[in-house]
Amino acid sequence: MTRLLVGITVAVVVFWATEIVAEMTLVRAGTAQEVNLSNSDQNADFEEFKAQVEPIFVKKRPGHARCYVCHGMSGAVGKMRSPFKLQELSPGKDFWTEDQSRQNFEMVVTNLVDPVDPLKSKILVHPLASSAGGEGMFHIGGQQFPSRDDPDWQKIEKWVQDLDAHRTSAGAAKNEEK
Ligand code: HEC
Repeated sequence: MTRLLVGITVAVVVFWATEIVAEMTLVRAGTAQEVNLSNSDQNADFEEFKAQVEPIFVKKRPGHARCYVCHGMSGAVGKMRSPFKLQELSPGKDFWTEDQSRQNFEMVVTNLVDPVDPLKSKILVHPLASSAGGEGMFHIGGQQFPSRDDPDWQKIEKWVQDLDAHRTSAGAAKNEEK
């Protein structure tokens, strides 16, 4: 009898937890879609991504393989479920074309930036050393950024913050219209 009760309680709790998670996902999707960024803001975010963030993906970091080596479509991650897949560089090229950069931008913004809590974004937290509050210990690509003072990590952080500021001001403008 007690075992049956325990079983039912567990089932109810699991069901309830699943509902909450499903709801949170919906709320997040809503926030991401509702806010329409102005063209100039979106352009600024894209330009900053190309100039500051993408170069980090092809840069050789001492003691580490380049992000692109694993995260390119033909790299180790290409065949995995992870959403962080960079466009394949054209033969002989060491940087992406405008179109390819645009696809990289969309992929990172959609999958690796947290619209609710920007500092929790996967692109910031996953390659950051665990000793600096990141998840680097669980990243197959290693603890690429030893601390939050790493200049490259800071470039990605600034980009995420700018993106978030644009979203927030676009959201505020939208609310005023109502
Ligand atoms: C040696 C290969 C390798 C290198 C180099 C590498 N990664 Fe990874 N990365 C992986 C693999 C494999 C995964 C998926 C499994 C995991 O979480 O470790 C991953 C996952 C990630 C994720 C989480 C995406 C998700 O699945 O949610 C992020 C963000 C990330 N890497 C960022 C980076 C950045 C930024 C760099 C370069 C500074 C980098 N990685 C370099 C192999 C690599």
